[in-house]
Amino acid sequence: MKIFVFFLALSGLVGAVFGGNFYKDFDITWGDGRAKILDNGKLLTLSLDKSSGSGFRSKNQYLFGKIDLQIKLVPGNSAGTVTTYYLSSLGSTHDEIDFEFLGNLSAEPYILHTNVYAQGKGDKEQQFYLWFDPTKDFHTYSILWNPLSIIFSVDGTPIRQFKNLESKGVAYPKKQPMWIYSSLWDAEEWATRGGLVKTDWSQAPFTASYTNFNALACTTTASCSANSWFSQALDITGQQRIKWVQKNYMIYNYCTDSKRFPQGFPPECSLV
Ligand SMILES: *[C@@H]1O[C@H](CO)[C@@H](O)[C@H](O)[C@H]1NC(C)=O
Repeated sequence: MKIFVFFLALSGLVGAVFGGNFYKDFDITWGDGRAKILDNGKLLTLSLDKSSGSGFRSKNQYLFGKIDLQIKLVPGNSAGTVTTYYLSSLGSTHDEIDFEFLGNLSAEPYILHTNVYAQGKGDKEQQFYLWFDPTKDFHTYSILWNPLSIIFSVDGTPIRQFKNLESKGVAYPKKQPMWIYSSLWDAEEWATRGGLVKTDWSQAPFTASYTNFNALACTTTASCSANSWFSQALDITGQQRIKWVQKNYMIYNYCTDSKRFPQGFPPECSLV
């Protein structure tokens, strides 16, 4: 009996499955009633009006994981709004893995902005258009974070990989547990066409919706390596998909922005 209990306790350390109910996995952290959990925990909505946006944060901190979240972005004229979905630790040397969705005028394309911070340093932006209208339906936005790489995916299609190149002197997030965050806020100073198009407050409140959070993740490093996602890398199909996305939908890549790096590109740019 003792041995049985011991094994149960051990298996608790081997990555866990989270999801299915926003009440269980998240806290609404700001927005004074503008964020709502609905439908017995199956749906979450964030809203933004002239006085405030809103946001939520996971109850757990995770160290590595495979995280899926379905989002339906602000429809119609969403210019000036930013919907964020990211992992982050705290402090000046924090790590962060970012998805940000920059709104636009009706029928104009959203920009999906991505970035990675390791030990407080970001500056690794890549931006994409999407191959569908992200305001019509829910779509799945995923982060696979393991010691080998960080893979950003949209509806199962990988769009970006940030490899662990610590052996070449590139910092990689792997020691600081991160929370999952999301928010909807106003950034009319820069979000849409670099700030040219402002928020139309007559359209407020703006609303983004969330469903089907699903994470295979570790809240502790112990035995996490037993999970298959822990050593998952991009397969050939994945590499082909990334190439397709980067060729057809990538609109900004810090690794090709020579104005920004007159002294030469960061080391990871020549190693991917
Ligand atoms: C908004 O639409 C304009 C015009 O099509 C485009 O240049 C821009 O990249 C789009 N997205 C954002 C967030 O500005």
